[in-house]
Amino acid sequence: MSLPVITGDKEEVYEDPLDLMDEIDELKKEKDASILAHFYVDGEIQDIADFTGDSLKLARDATKVKTSTIVFSGVHFMGESAKIMNPEKRVLIPDMLAGCSLAESCPADQLGSFQEQLRAEGRSFETVAYINTSAAVKSLCDWIVTSGNAQEIIGRVPDDKEILFVPDQHLGRYLMEVTGRKMILWPGSCMVHEVFSIQDLIRAKRNNPGSKVIAHPECPQNILEITDFIGGTEKMRQHVMSVKEPTTFLVATESAMIHAFEKSAPQHNFVPVPGIMVDTGETCACNRCPHMARNTLQKVRDCLRDGTPEIVWQDYFEKARAVLDKSLL
Ligand code: 13P
Ligand code: SF4
Repeated sequence: MSLPVITGDKEEVYEDPLDLMDEIDELKKEKDASILAHFYVDGEIQDIADFTGDSLKLARDATKVKTSTIVFSGVHFMGESAKIMNPEKRVLIPDMLAGCSLAESCPADQLGSFQEQLRAEGRSFETVAYINTSAAVKSLCDWIVTSGNAQEIIGRVPDDKEILFVPDQHLGRYLMEVTGRKMILWPGSCMVHEVFSIQDLIRAKRNNPGSKVIAHPECPQNILEITDFIGGTEKMRQHVMSVKEPTTFLVATESAMIHAFEKSAPQHNFVPVPGIMVDTGETCACNRCPHMARNTLQKVRDCLRDGTPEIVWQDYFEKARAVLDKSLL
């Protein structure tokens, strides 16, 4: 029997995940394709991917892929970065509408105007962009950072320059704290990390004596202040692997990350930190990124089979390429 299921804005007919996985395996060979999957997409997609990882590792992996086609299961800016760094490859993404609240918070025209204003004031600065930005924004920047390399890249900005950091104000504030560099912060934020409930986190700590909090630096300061380990997704994964004693970790990041934690460090118990309460008094399920959730096995199969949606090369990618290459490779 086939059951209709709702994913994002589209009704999909239920198909057996194991059949879909077999079909994807066949199509990968037929179409000469590799699948890259971010830690925030569904576990079943991570399990069939050729490469999984954080934004930094996947951007680097994309340059090592031997096949002529890359299917990037993540969000739009990730597929765009893979295309920019590999212009000769065909880059497909399962859903063109998989965006990012951070990338959307910093439109290129607004950034350009703000940079103009700073220059007119005689300020001498370099612009450092989190990788969660559009290619048009990247083309206006001096450096690109990910959560995995931000401290090192900030160290490369000359001391006599101010830093304009876009678009994540929380990551920027955290980086100011750990690097000691003062920054002008763009007021963007991630819709997932912004909404963790501090009350629920404190309650979870009380209910789980001896537990440890791990959090992504995209979280606001009040969450990071009671966190035992702060790091991007790969750094958190390395951390839980390094702890040998079975431990309960309270996880303040996107909930699909728990799949990667459980695979890498099965000795531990991972408890997702819930989002804030909604009007009905219930806790929202906002620790699941709605953009990442647009990736489904069916859409991976469809894009492999149909060769679309594809990230098509744009003129301004050339400028973004120089910045990405010097920052990430
Ligand atoms: P990292 O995997 O680089 O830590 O990024 C987290 C994120 O929010 C991706 O959108
Ligand atoms: Fe963007 Fe946040 Fe979703 Fe990552 S988790 S893609 S930063 S909205």
